Amino acid sequence: MAEKSWEMLEGACRGCKKCRLWETRTNIVIGTGNKNADIMFVGEGPGRQEDLTGEPFVGDAGKLLDKMLSAINLSRNEVYIANVVKCRPPGNRDPHDDEQEACLNYLRYQLMLVKPKIVVCLGRIASRVIISPDFRITKDRGKWYDKKGYKFIATYHPSALLRDPSKKRPAWEDFKSIRKMYDSIK
Ligand code: URA
Repeated sequence: MAEKSWEMLEGACRGCKKCRLWETRTNIVIGTGNKNADIMFVGEGPGRQEDLTGEPFVGDAGKLLDKMLSAINLSRNEVYIANVVKCRPPGNRDPHDDEQEACLNYLRYQLMLVKPKIVVCLGRIASRVIISPDFRITKDRGKWYDKKGYKFIATYHPSALLRDPSKKRPAWEDFKSIRKMYDSIK
């Protein structure tokens, strides 16, 4: 049943033309990792490398994400990783509201299928879509939110850490808190 549902999701995504982003995509980037993970990470949208490979977080931001995961003893095999939008916004611009809206049901469906206990929003866009439209990443990151049986937290997007290394220390605090919560739900 779950296999069938994943097939349906993947089929729908591969044929998706719900917003303009399909016109410029090379590959759709649906998600990767453990489909039964207790923890799911949600980024913003594919960049160039992700568009070329069809895998989320494989460029520089992805390499940093892998390092941060490994610093808290998590590997890609233990987590599920997805994005708010599944097609690359040209030039890596922010996905527009209507593009996020068009893709939201795919993310909802992924959440329903993976059923993680913890959802980590990477950056402002994912936090606003998932936690609250008025979410302020600098002020509200690192806090835990309970909603619909999930525990949510937001932290800086790895690309933001590459642009501004002073954000690495607070992000590390968030990652330690994520590990603690992950241990507590086991
Ligand atoms: N940035 C994201 O938000 N997602 C990716 O998959 C890659 C970079």
